[in-house]
Amino acid sequence: MTDRNAVLQQLNAVSETYRDPLAAVDWPRLSAQTWWLPPDCLSLAGIAAFEDLPEPMRRRLSHYEFLHWLQVGLWLERLFLARTARGLNDAVNPLDYAARLHELREEAGHSLLFLKFMEVCGLNLAGGAFRPPRRLTVLGKLAPVNSPLFRLAVVVGEEVPDKFNRRIRAQAHGIDPVVARVINLHMMDEARHVARGRLLAEEALARAGRLRRQMLGNALARLLGTFVWAVFLPAPTLYELAGLGEGRHWQELARRNGTRRALMRACLAPTLHWLARQGVAIPPPV
Ligand SMILES: [Fe+2]
Ligand SMILES: [Fe+2]
Repeated sequence: MTDRNAVLQQLNAVSETYRDPLAAVDWPRLSAQTWWLPPDCLSLAGIAAFEDLPEPMRRRLSHYEFLHWLQVGLWLERLFLARTARGLNDAVNPLDYAARLHELREEAGHSLLFLKFMEVCGLNLAGGAFRPPRRLTVLGKLAPVNSPLFRLAVVVGEEVPDKFNRRIRAQAHGIDPVVARVINLHMMDEARHVARGRLLAEEALARAGRLRRQMLGNALARLLGTFVWAVFLPAPTLYELAGLGEGRHWQELARRNGTRRALMRACLAPTLHWLARQGVAIPPPV
């Protein structure tokens, strides 16, 4: 058995224990009186003008920023699901076919979790919705599925959000148990998606020489900046919906927030290290 098949077999075996995540959440327990993200995971964490606000206002921002996070998840998973479904015809053997089906089932389960959360939470994001960056959506929809750039983008899209989820989970005791459960159910599958994403990216890179890897690094560096800001910087209307007023002002504070940038860099670091080991060196975009 090839190395690739051995890895796929291992990943598939874990995925076989699948349980419907929607049935694993006690939805009525969700409360509006709790934090939905840990305070230091908010875009305005550490900003005096924000930290001086009464706790209910700060908690309310955590609700809206969590919804932003779910919308980011829906966007990324929509791209993964569409490309994975289209790629079913290209599966080279039953193991590969099963790996793709497992990923479809798991990502569909995550997106259904996010939609259900939005339904039960009772908050309306109208007008403050996350707007996916157009060129990343175009790349996600159109880049050839086995191209190194597409494969690297998948690793970034799977791994960076997963690192943020890990930070949230590390403080699960301080947030709503329903939110913690959703994060946990999501993360259970992501380590496998990252492992498979890295495997396929390393295969796609195998044929690329040093110069090609440098060019890929340049292309990816430009996309990465757009990606991390879209993911970690909520739209101005989100701050307004959360009741803070003057969204552009708050967004600017978040953009310049050193605490936020440090968190973004920490979430990026494992992926950037892995990329450097592949000969695709990228300076941190923040
Ligand atoms: Fe997912
Ligand atoms: Fe995933």
